[in-house]
This record gives sequence, C-alpha cells and structure tokens, in this order.
Amino acid sequence: MTDERLVLAEADGPVAVVTLNRPKALNALSPELIDELIAALESFDADPAVRCIVLTGGPRVFAAGADIKAMADAAPMEMLRRGNIARWARITAITKPIVAAVSGYALGGGCELAMMCDIIVASETAQFGQPEINIGIIPGAGGTARLTRALGPYRAMELILTGGTIGAREAMAHGLVNRVCPVEALVSEAKALAAVIAERPPLAVRMAKEAVRVAAERSVREGLEIELRNFYLLFDTADQKEGMRAFIEKRKAAFKGE
Ligand code: CAA
Repeated sequence: MTDERLVLAEADGPVAVVTLNRPKALNALSPELIDELIAALESFDADPAVRCIVLTGGPRVFAAGADIKAMADAAPMEMLRRGNIARWARITAITKPIVAAVSGYALGGGCELAMMCDIIVASETAQFGQPEINIGIIPGAGGTARLTRALGPYRAMELILTGGTIGAREAMAHGLVNRVCPVEALVSEAKALAAVIAERPPLAVRMAKEAVRVAAERSVREGLEIELRNFYLLFDTADQKEGMRAFIEKRKAAFKGE
C-alpha cells in the first residue's frame, strides 16, 4: 500500500489498524476518503482473522470534519442524491468493535466518526467539538444525537451552539472518552485494549456490541429485548460451551469463534 491512499490499513494479528491519511487537509473526510474508509472497515469486518479494529488519524489530527470544500456549493437535493453523509451509516453497521485512537482535532464529522466507534482512547492533545454552527450548518452525521447522549443535553447544547471544543480530560470526565494517554503511546494503548477484546469469544463480542449500541441509541426497552435475544442465541455457540466447561474445569478457555 502506498502513501497516496487516503486510508491506510494493516492487520497485526487479530487487531487491524486503519489510519486516515490526508494530513495536508487535516484528514478532512472527503467522499473519496469515506469510500476508502468504508472499504477498509468492511473488508476487516469480513475477515475472520481480524477480531478488533483500531481507527486513528495519526498523532497530529484525528479529522477536522467533513470536507467543507466538497460541499460548499452543493444544493440540498444534490447532497441527498450524492448521499455523501448518509453513507457514513455503513460505518455504524460494522459488527466488530472499533477502538478510536484520537489525537488532535476531532471536529464536526471527525467527532461524529469517533462517536461511531465503540471505545475512544484519546491523547492529551485531543480536542472534540461540533463547530458546524460556525459555517452555517449543524452536525449531520450524529453529532446532535450522539453527543447529547454522551455528554448530556446541557453540555452538548453549549458545544453545538457555540462551536467550542473540549479537551481529552474533560471529555473523559463526561464519559465521551475511555482513557487518556500521551500522544506517543496512543496507538499502542488502543492496540493493547483491542488485543484484550480480540481474545474474547468473537460471537459474544459481536452480540454484546449490538446490545450496547441498541441500548445507547434506542430505548431501554429495545435494549433489553436485544440483550435477552442475544443472550439466548449465544447458547447455540461452541464458545459458550467451551467457556463454561473451562470455568468448571478450572482451565483457560480456548475460543474458536464458533
Ligand atoms: N474541510 C476541508 N478542508 C479542511 C477542513 C475541512 N473540514 N479542515 C481543514 N481543512 C484544510 C484547510 O482548508 C487547509 O487547507 P489549505 O492548506 O489548502 O488551505 C488545511 O486543511 C489546514 O487547515 P488550517 O490552515 O485551517 O489549519 P489550522 O491549524 O489553522 O486550523 C482547524 C485547524 C481549527 C481545525 C481549522 O482547519 C478548521 O476550523 N477546520 C474546519 C472545522 C470544521 O468546521 N469542521 C466541520 C466540517 S462540517 C461537518 O463535519 C458536517 C458534518 O456533520 C458531517
């Protein structure tokens, strides 16, 4: 893979690392970049050897948002027809867990992309915000909905109406970020966390991700329904039998992903 690609992708055993690679434009999420990102994520999602994905933008910037230059002159129906933002939903359809490793700006669509991931590890330089208000629009890829769930309506409202940002530690205090580490340690920290998840039985990981996502994005009732359905379904897996037998026999379980 050459550096001209907008997204770099490499698997390191069961952990895959996907890196946004448009540094000159602060990883602005152009339609072409999003296409490459979706292709990389979907390909790892389909690869049984990969069990967890890390998504990063490198040490300087995660992403400064959707590409303003690519939409500045667009008409509403053109935006609708192009489906440039709508197809980001394919990122939320990835079934394997995605750990975002965020350093520097995660603004607008960049913040929304981080929130489409399942766990967010941030470097001390990370800045989260939805500055769309400053360019005459509002977030369109989940910013108002997900930031409100993550921070609560008052903090989210302030950020979205002022276009301001919050740093990594404040984001962690509010539950938007899982852990904060130095920039140099960011990707290794995210990969270490991903490696722990990669050791867990993959079908249970998938079912758990789905249940938590539904609970986070829909009602408690829908969350409970999916949780119970997935709980029962897992009794049809070899890994459930192995996990419980290993516990009873006081040995380490050998999960196969079946
Ligand atoms: N789209 C397109 N290009 C962008 C961009 C974006 N979102 N963000 C930065 N760039 C480009 C700049 O135009 C500049 O390119 P040139 O060198 O060709 O002029 C290059 O990246 C470097 O940017 P700056 O010179 O502005 O860097 P800075 O360090 O002075 O400022 C910044 C950094 C504060 C992040 C500033 O770039 C900025 O405010 N960017 C836009 C942030 C934003 O508004 N994001 C929301 C986008 S809309 C959206 O995301 C909608 C949605 O919900 C899906």
